[in-house]
Amino acid sequence: MQPTKITLKPPGQGNLSTLLADVARPDPQMLYSDLDARGWEMVGEGVALCTSKDLSELVLRSPGDFSSAAPLHLGNVRPLLPLNVDPPAHSKYRKALEPIFSARRVAAFEPRIVSRFEGVVDALVSTGGCDFTEDVAEVYPSAVFADLLGLADSDLTTLMAIRDGILHPARLDASAATDMAKLREVQDRSASQLYDYFAGLLEERRGGSLRNGDVMSHLAGWQVNGERLSDEEILDTAFTLVIAGLDTVSDSLTCVFAYLATHPEHRDRIVGDPGLIPAAVDELLRWESPVPTASPRLAVRDVTLPGGIPVSAGTVVLVSLAAANVDRAACPDALEVRLDRRPNRHVAFGAGAHRCIGSHLARLEIAVAVREWQRRIPVWHLARGYEQLSYSAGLRRVDHLRLSWDTKVADACPC
Ligand code: HEM
Repeated sequence: MQPTKITLKPPGQGNLSTLLADVARPDPQMLYSDLDARGWEMVGEGVALCTSKDLSELVLRSPGDFSSAAPLHLGNVRPLLPLNVDPPAHSKYRKALEPIFSARRVAAFEPRIVSRFEGVVDALVSTGGCDFTEDVAEVYPSAVFADLLGLADSDLTTLMAIRDGILHPARLDASAATDMAKLREVQDRSASQLYDYFAGLLEERRGGSLRNGDVMSHLAGWQVNGERLSDEEILDTAFTLVIAGLDTVSDSLTCVFAYLATHPEHRDRIVGDPGLIPAAVDELLRWESPVPTASPRLAVRDVTLPGGIPVSAGTVVLVSLAAANVDRAACPDALEVRLDRRPNRHVAFGAGAHRCIGSHLARLEIAVAVREWQRRIPVWHLARGYEQLSYSAGLRRVDHLRLSWDTKVADACPC
């Protein structure tokens, strides 16, 4: 498939670049909510932005009309699995992954997740402050991921450097921030390292008993009704897990902790009632929408959407999960954060066939972080001089979220 070229309209209302800049505000929710009334808007040549919850769900649930086989340029040389494959072919990859990410399997993994978070937070309690983004959010989900893959901690550093090369090329080479050729070069090199790394791991697992219970052993040994995964399919799945499963949780953690730091009444409610945490995590995921936009969908035929909206074949559709999550027509009091909101039918994890397979894991990682942090450090706030939060526009995250706390209060905690 030819790469899809996205040309944006000149700056103006509804323009995508304007929207992306606004997304980086601490409080983009009102802006999103205003977009919902329109529901659908052409934001560039052949590019539509979908914002209402109804239409967003319809697009995401209609893979026959809106294909997710639109390529993402991350240095990958083949489609990402299962993300870039439409049903019915998609179901094979999904079935292969489900046993590892099922609610039950993830719940059984909780002690390990807690232990990883303790390893990070216990070292911080007596310091009275930290850069939460760097010291906690970047490190902890990667450690959990290493456990899932059965990696040694020493390999984790390698993997994180490779991930940075793919998702944050400028961290490896500053010139990639402004030079597109350099950006592609860093991404291509890092992607190639990722394939090599996982190929080596796969070989190692095949050489062993495949009974390690880790992701690669599971995928290598997976067989249902005569279906198996080829080595390339396993590598392409592992690639997706790295780009979908690390930054998303890190970024969500920064959003959740920034929200609680700036809304102490909500934080205190959680301290008083830790049973509220799972619902609160969902509500904050709805509110913050750390993945603001689903991966692009491509209209594969002419379609007329409800309301008589014509969509021509070849249109790239950007589904704004963030806008859908604060659609007042679909969510009561959408612009209010209600930590005990139930039911909470948000789309922070997408919808339809490609809905996030890591949602149970992500929720648990965030819930464990909030719970275990609160047990040790019940009162914290933004560090003095760092009250101005800087959010990024791609995946929503707070860069350098600096927190501080009174070590005497933290020390007194009966944990
Ligand atoms: C709070 C954290 C997370 C958020 C907000 C999130 C969000 C999403 C969203 C919105 C999608 C759908 C994309 C689309 O339809 O275009 C998705 C898909 C996916 N996510 Fe997550 N994700 C998170 C964590 C994770 C984790 C921890 C993993 C695994 C380790 C993971 C693995 C995946 C995979 C494999 C897909 C593709 C599923 C498919 O194509 O069938 N995600 N995620």
